[in-house]
Amino acid sequence: MLCAFAGAPRLFRARGGPTLPERAAMSITIAPITPDFVAEIGDVDLAQPLAPEDLEAIKAAFWKYAVLIFPEQTLTQEQHLDFARQFGPLEAGTGIGRGGKTRIRAELADVSNLNYEGDFVDPQSRLRWYQLGNRLWHTDASFRRVPALCSLLYAHVVAPVGGNTEFADQRAAYDALPAQTRRRIERLVAEHSIFNSRARIGMTDFEPAERDKLPPVPQALVRTIPETGRKTLYVASHAGRIFGMPEAEGRALIDQLIAHTTQRQFVYTHRWRVHDLVMWDNRCTMHRGTDYDDTRWKRDMHRATVADCANSCEQEGIDAA
Ligand code: OGA
Ligand code: MN
Repeated sequence: MLCAFAGAPRLFRARGGPTLPERAAMSITIAPITPDFVAEIGDVDLAQPLAPEDLEAIKAAFWKYAVLIFPEQTLTQEQHLDFARQFGPLEAGTGIGRGGKTRIRAELADVSNLNYEGDFVDPQSRLRWYQLGNRLWHTDASFRRVPALCSLLYAHVVAPVGGNTEFADQRAAYDALPAQTRRRIERLVAEHSIFNSRARIGMTDFEPAERDKLPPVPQALVRTIPETGRKTLYVASHAGRIFGMPEAEGRALIDQLIAHTTQRQFVYTHRWRVHDLVMWDNRCTMHRGTDYDDTRWKRDMHRATVADCANSCEQEGIDAA
């Protein structure tokens, strides 16, 4: 199944050469941070409506790289959401932990260590514990039947020490697997649940009503990114068992694939500067927040999340009910 916005990747036009289009020339700049995983996008103001050429160039870069950094953006919550909406429909938050009292607009995930009043979250609170789950390698919302396509995290306040975000390239990790492993995992389906990742950090005391709202969902273990045709692993700490495999064997395979994917050569560490906006493709990356003294430093990040068009099994043509 192809998403409505999934266009064929476009090649960048040469700058200054005879192939420049007649209309306004593309103004953004794309500076690779790594050869094919992370790039920094400059000369663009995301607070303004984008020229169609610039949006196309950003999309093409996004499919190629999977992680884009936009430094020095000054965005209101609405402008942040408006930029995100250009990639697809926004995803609603889970609402877990904040009891319906949100500090920021409900369409944005509050990825901060702050409570409703803007003070430090109580170190003993469930909310803090729940958010510690972000320190596990994961991809956003794989626990939803239709998971997240991309996330756009914007830094309002950063910690002076620690609090980085690490990203792992699941496409490169797939490419590096031995052929035998690739054959073994082809068309396997894992069961993802937010309660799997929370159980990994010892958090199991959820109300039945909370559990009922987010039942486990199937996701393909290997998927193809439609815009590039690249194959990628699709694992996360939300993954539990693998269908058709003894529980322990499935979990061991998932842990092994997460360990493989998060080897140094596949990982980029982002050290945040205030007003960075970082956007990543959840279909082919994992990420995690690194440690920082969250009782000493305030860290205030807002995340807009764009939903994918269908469940990954459906996109792969795997019948997983
Ligand atoms: C997220 C996330 C990690 C971090 O926003 O989805 O996992 O470093 N963030 O805040
Ligand atoms: Mn996340």
